[in-house]
Amino acid sequence: MNFNILTIFPDLFDTLDHGVIGKAKNNGSFSINLHDIRKHAVNKHGQIDGKPYGRLMSRISPFTKKSLEDIPKNKIGKVIYLSPQGKPLNNIKAKELSTEKSITFICGRYEGIDQRFIDKYVDEEISIGDFIISGGELAALCSIDAIVRHIPGVLGNDDSSESDTFSNGLLKGPQYSRPEIFDEMEVPEILLSGNHEKIKEWKELKSLEATINRRPDLLNNVKLTKKQRKLLEDLTSQRIL
Ligand SMILES: C[S@@+](CC[C@H](N)C(=O)[O-])C[C@H]1O[C@@H](n2cnc3c(N)ncnc32)[C@H](O)[C@@H]1O
Repeated sequence: MNFNILTIFPDLFDTLDHGVIGKAKNNGSFSINLHDIRKHAVNKHGQIDGKPYGRLMSRISPFTKKSLEDIPKNKIGKVIYLSPQGKPLNNIKAKELSTEKSITFICGRYEGIDQRFIDKYVDEEISIGDFIISGGELAALCSIDAIVRHIPGVLGNDDSSESDTFSNGLLKGPQYSRPEIFDEMEVPEILLSGNHEKIKEWKELKSLEATINRRPDLLNNVKLTKKQRKLLEDLTSQRIL
């Protein structure tokens, strides 16, 4: 998978050289092509802001267009503008985008990108949440990380995005690892029982418990199994009592 990034801060993307994502990048599971929009700025200071209409507005659009033209047409793929007005990124969307061959991310700055550029060149707008950050770079980084986790092999053999929170529409329950006693607190007994069936059921229960307590909205969009429905009924009746 190939990502083209149009940005005025290409250095920020060094973040992708670390950890499991860095390893996947080194292995060639995905590649990053950075395009510095400032390269096309007209004055010697590399200035790309201005105030043509309204408040300080990014004059980024003509330069962004030039940066887009730097990419061979067959490598552009889906053009996504990171934007607080976009559709929220979630796990389903990240998984869907992981099947694209190429994605070109446009990172906005200042007041954003001229609507005419969006209308003509952007296929999709994506938001990473209901808050404002200062530029699209961090949003692109979050998106790339979330997307490439779904590329087969990126997480290694032992781990899988299929066991992550949201993979089945629910939150994952609490996690425990050695030592058995930490600061005088014990690991839940069931996890030491060796009874895999019971442990699986306990994990399912804890996952539902976390979801109902913290993100009950998720339950509106998930198709629960018969067993999960029964566990949820038990949990809900316990909460009412
Ligand atoms: C300071 S923001 C502009 C916000 C604009 N004034 C508004 O109220 O919508 C500059 C850039 O950061 C990026 N950005 C900010 N918040 C974002 C979010 N929640 N998701 C994705 N990108 C975001 C966008 O690329 C945006 O063009």
